[in-house]
Amino acid sequence: MTRRLRALSGIKPTGTPHLGNYFGMIQPAIALQETHEAFYFVADYHALTTGRDPAVLRRASHEITATFLALGLDPAGAVFFRQSDVPEVLELAWQLACVTNMGLLQRAHAYKAALEKGDANELSAGTFFYPVLMASDILAYDSAVVPVGRDQLQHIEMAQDMAGHLNAAYGNVLRRPEALVRAEVPTVPGIDDRKMSKSYGNTIDIFLPSEKAFLKVVKQIKTDSKGVDEPKDPEVSTLVALYRLVASREQSDDMAARYRAGGYGYGHAKDALGKALEAHFGPARERYNALLARPDELDDVLAQGAKRARAVAREVVGRVREKVGLRALP
Ligand code: ADP
Ligand code: TRP
Repeated sequence: MTRRLRALSGIKPTGTPHLGNYFGMIQPAIALQETHEAFYFVADYHALTTGRDPAVLRRASHEITATFLALGLDPAGAVFFRQSDVPEVLELAWQLACVTNMGLLQRAHAYKAALEKGDANELSAGTFFYPVLMASDILAYDSAVVPVGRDQLQHIEMAQDMAGHLNAAYGNVLRRPEALVRAEVPTVPGIDDRKMSKSYGNTIDIFLPSEKAFLKVVKQIKTDSKGVDEPKDPEVSTLVALYRLVASREQSDDMAARYRAGGYGYGHAKDALGKALEAHFGPARERYNALLARPDELDDVLAQGAKRARAVAREVVGRVREKVGLRALP
């Protein structure tokens, strides 16, 4: 049997997963387990660049794990683990840092955005180093494909560059990964029309407790002041964009036609979206809550995953150590 290619991705435990996380990364990652060897992890080292609350970190790590399992990740086949259970990635990050120019890191969008917000001297070295650790996450597992949302593309390109630099310096030692961004999934808009993101506080969490709770957030989605009777353009509507993600093709086409025809108000669209969100995520919510109520079992899954992941990382890091002239891992 030919070996399956490895798919790898990570997500920071900085809060409860939202629609952007789900459609950008979680859903495509879970789907890939059918065709690839899936390696997914909770990026808790990365979360330390922004969070300082140990209880939140632990809670969110369990939430992410329960989310993946509730939505169908099979821990018998896939490897699901905590980034920090494989400390070898910190070692590889150092090897990569030593062949990476400051210039490459200074061009990172996230770094530039952070600079615009404040004084460069106040920015943590961890934030600056973030792309190096992320490259190490990817390269330490000989990953072939990395399913992520569009906003992570630059980070994957930087990982490709770093693999190239290390390979150029020491001979072929790291595998060059490819990003996998689903062409049909646009960046998911938030309730204020900007990109949905925890940092903007404009998210719709996927496991809100009920249809009523979904509707409450959906009601906050910004719309223009067109009256019920007026025709509306579905292509510029956040409501329609979100509905298309969770409703069937038929239902979405129907909503778009009603927009164009007039006599259909934003209130109607909001009701339909609330219902569709509940229909899409409601069934997995029961599993999610049951899993979250058993943190010991989540820890077992993470420990099993870490064992398998660590064996791969030790092999790769061992290879790099030998090439650069260090002794074998103790
Ligand atoms: P946030 O911006 O809320 O902090 P993260 O940076 O933790 O989200 O993103 C985790 C994953 O979810 C990444 O792969 C990212 O590309 C994806 N993602 C986040 N927000 C969106 C969005 N609005 N649309 C598509 N994908 C997204
Ligand atoms: N930076 C990613 C995010 O914010 C999380 C992440 C860390 C990651 N390491 C990774 C994603 C490795 C893919 C591969 O979403």
